[in-house]
Amino acid sequence: MIVGDFPFARPRRLRSSGWMREMCQEHFLKPSHLILPLFVREKEMDGDIPSMPQIKRFTVPELLPVVHEALTLGIKSVALFPVIAGDQRDAKGEGAFREDNLISRAIRAIKGSFPEIGVIADVALDPYTSHGQDGLLIHGRVPNDETVEVLCAQALLQARAGCDILAPSDMMDGRIMAIRKTLDDHGFDHVALMSYGAKYASSFYGPFRDALKTDGADKNLKKTYQMNPGNIKEALKEIAMDIREGADMVMVKPGLPYLDVISKAAQTFHVPIFAYQVSGEYAMLKAASNNGWLDFDSCLMESLLCFKRAGAQGIFTYAALHGAKILNA
Ligand code: PBG
Repeated sequence: MIVGDFPFARPRRLRSSGWMREMCQEHFLKPSHLILPLFVREKEMDGDIPSMPQIKRFTVPELLPVVHEALTLGIKSVALFPVIAGDQRDAKGEGAFREDNLISRAIRAIKGSFPEIGVIADVALDPYTSHGQDGLLIHGRVPNDETVEVLCAQALLQARAGCDILAPSDMMDGRIMAIRKTLDDHGFDHVALMSYGAKYASSFYGPFRDALKTDGADKNLKKTYQMNPGNIKEALKEIAMDIREGADMVMVKPGLPYLDVISKAAQTFHVPIFAYQVSGEYAMLKAASNNGWLDFDSCLMESLLCFKRAGAQGIFTYAALHGAKILNA
């Protein structure tokens, strides 16, 4: 068998048994690579999310046993997403920096009970705005600099509540530097920034918007700040800018359809790159496996391992608990 310049090579020898395959494996997945996103609700709201089977919106007290389970399984951090009732939203997203809001209470409760878990919170206005945009909406546009000012107030509130990592997911220009400066000026230089550096205007966020009840947001307007799926040079520019502005870590989102972006970013930059296996990716795996068309466990673990192979440091996945259980088994 002649294979290029390696006439004597028999690559199958290295795949011939389980121990050999494992001995020669290049990339591995550990529970500590998984970050668990959690939806938080007030007790009046329904917990079920039809487009995300087995994922729930939790009340603040309900979060605590879940976080405890995550820790027990070796997961090191959770990412919180508040679900705000419609009558609590307004055009300016003022709930984002209202003292003692839902996310602040959730952060305090978790850090109060489990100081050893990392808590990540988004910086973006979409849970709080009546129009569902990540920023303000003025005369039909999402203004950049006015939005950044509000995001700084939101970031500060979440830092005060005890959040360890702030994750700006809004894609406004210059927000990383502005948030970094605000945090530093108020004594929160220890709070890290994970920028959603390359966040695409993706249809794979659909189930997340069901979960947050923000599905009414004008998707064309989101395209004025989230990136065009056809671009990768622009992703590298965005990430470079965010790092220069003070991002400690960077996120690429969505995940699987954007592995090339993760790979290129991991090769190009010397900061940890995180991937987000988004709600639509989770829903696809669930839908196919619930139909008996795919095996959920093995497809999940394969997709998570592929993020590691592409160069991701860690992965946000709604199946983090399940994945960690499989890894620990
Ligand atoms: C909001 C935000 C979104 C997601 C995370 N943060 C949705 C959006 O930008 O519209 C999507 C996550 C997912 O689909 O799992 N800033």
